[in-house]
Amino acid sequence: MLVFINLRYISFKSIMFNKVSSVLLPCLAGSVLFIACNSVNPGTLNGTPSNEKAVSKDIHTQSNADSVLVKHLGLNIKVNFDTRRISGVATWDIDNTMHQSELVLDTYDLTIDSIKNDNTATTFKLGEKVQHLGKALHIAIAANTKQVQVYYHTCDSSRALRWLTPQQTHDKKYPFLFTQSESIYARSWVPCPDGPGIRFSYDARVEVPKDLLALMSATNPQQTNDSGIYHFQMEIPVPAYLLALAVGKIEFKPLGEKTGVYAEPGMLAKSAYELAPVNDMVANAGKLYGEYKWGRYDVIVLPPAFPIGGMENPRLTFATPTIIAGDRSLVSLIAHELAHSWSGNLVTNATWNDFWLNEGFTNYFERRIMESIYGSDYSDMLWELGYQTLKDNVRDLGEKSPDTHLFLNLKDRDPDDGLTDIPYEKGSLFLQLIEKTVGREKFDVFLKQYFEEHSFKTITTTAFLDYLDKNLLHGDTSLTNKIRINDWVYGPGIPTNCPRAGGKLFAAVDTARNHFLAGAAPTTLATQKWSTHEWLYFLHNMPAKLTVDQMYSLDKQFSFTNSGNCEIADLWYVVAIRNGYKVANTKIDEFLSTVGRRKFLEPIYSELMKSTDGAAFAKSLYNKYRDNYHPLAQESLDRIVMGKAK
Ligand code: BES
Ligand code: ZN
Repeated sequence: MLVFINLRYISFKSIMFNKVSSVLLPCLAGSVLFIACNSVNPGTLNGTPSNEKAVSKDIHTQSNADSVLVKHLGLNIKVNFDTRRISGVATWDIDNTMHQSELVLDTYDLTIDSIKNDNTATTFKLGEKVQHLGKALHIAIAANTKQVQVYYHTCDSSRALRWLTPQQTHDKKYPFLFTQSESIYARSWVPCPDGPGIRFSYDARVEVPKDLLALMSATNPQQTNDSGIYHFQMEIPVPAYLLALAVGKIEFKPLGEKTGVYAEPGMLAKSAYELAPVNDMVANAGKLYGEYKWGRYDVIVLPPAFPIGGMENPRLTFATPTIIAGDRSLVSLIAHELAHSWSGNLVTNATWNDFWLNEGFTNYFERRIMESIYGSDYSDMLWELGYQTLKDNVRDLGEKSPDTHLFLNLKDRDPDDGLTDIPYEKGSLFLQLIEKTVGREKFDVFLKQYFEEHSFKTITTTAFLDYLDKNLLHGDTSLTNKIRINDWVYGPGIPTNCPRAGGKLFAAVDTARNHFLAGAAPTTLATQKWSTHEWLYFLHNMPAKLTVDQMYSLDKQFSFTNSGNCEIADLWYVVAIRNGYKVANTKIDEFLSTVGRRKFLEPIYSELMKSTDGAAFAKSLYNKYRDNYHPLAQESLDRIVMGKAK
């Protein structure tokens, strides 16, 4: 087996080698948010504070939005590319029925210029910076305060913001800005109550340089106007991590009546071709688990510097251009982000410890959407590849590591520490196990009802397990003994009753690989009908060591070094580095100079760092390209390449 460190985004090796900080969060009396399970933050939707028994603390926000009702955000901002600054005012509509003397919002490296309550100046104080969390903004309010207006500006190193020079975009003509708010970075561009359990509606007025278009996770314009001023509405309450903004030379092309794609002009046609399956995806997803509730579903294909694969910003998925492979072979990523319109955006994890409720359900739903369009042979390949990355990830984290539990303990840690394959793959396999145990028909009815009943609400792990028991398992011990819920949710590793797809189509790949390893020439292998997934499986399961001859012959026949498919290229580059196949170095250099997706950068840099030669190469590349990467990618690569402590 190939020894491949699977790192979804963060280098867990480096996390474990650099001790996790032991800085204790100061005890902020009255400002630790309690999320009542099964409820939105009291009042945003139906005005009824929850009195349910199970409460769960969100340790990653310092806001007191549990005692001051935060209903609506009115954002009025100007985007300045010269100073690389967003400045303006965030107006919060509140209801202070509990007569609190202050409203506490989250901030991270924000400068607060002044604050008014209902148009009159008020006093405020920024607390000490707390590691990972930033500074709490304490604002004096009165019992009858209705609106709090925070005048502020961002700093040039805001964690959520990525400012690109024209040179760093695809078309190289205009600058570009995009945000990435999940998990807790919204607070670095908007002072806000920043926890997944706190929802608010928003509207925005955004001023950008003429020629550029602004888009948000809201109702969006489809073309540039002469004023450079754009207005947005998101009337459905959403958590702060779904606040999003993109500004650039962007054009729109419809895909269907309620779907479309945005991209830089030079990427638009290719993107529209690649994303044509989106219409079927939306239709099929709706058939599976209930109607799509957000109005339009559009996708923006961002410049290559986007640090992740995709982000489920409501109404406007943000996507990496690395999925534009020319053959629609990587569109499952869009199925994934679309699936979040149910799991995550409709029903949200109450805290980051419950992250698996977001990503596990989404991964499961993604594969059901893919199965509904491309059939089960196809989706089985996705399941099997997922299983393999999970296995690698569990091995790297440690079979007994608490970080392999579905329910996490992220106390005093960055929520992004939970961003491994566990919530995704172990989470979705757990759901698949339930599906297989009770039967698909029953499980689908259950899921549809789950999404319907929890729409626009948050949910904790315990509340979900309760709901599962009441509505599906009904305490039936023959079912619960088969599933072993506790082993999955509160136990480590991959439980022995884990379902395994195997992937019918992969048997032929194993045969071909074995032939090759037994000495057959690559020209004789029956690879003609292979899709990207078969190639990934072929490469992923190569032995750790290949001879130089083997590397040459594979590359000669299959042109891996020059692959236009980023998934295949990335995997090949890791194999090449491991086997000292220097022919790939020029392409690796080129790849690292353009691609900003952490999932691709980290394995390559990590593999390079394993040898002295490689480490020198990695450092010289990183020196050249660090500025091209997103602040979040820089943070993890600083650890991998520069050995920086967390
Ligand atoms: N919501 C996530 C991305 C995310 C999670 C960003 C947590 C920051 C913190 C998104 O839906 C996602 O999972 N993206 C994956 C796509 C994949 C699993 C198909 C990615 O970016 O690789
Ligand atoms: Zn996701």
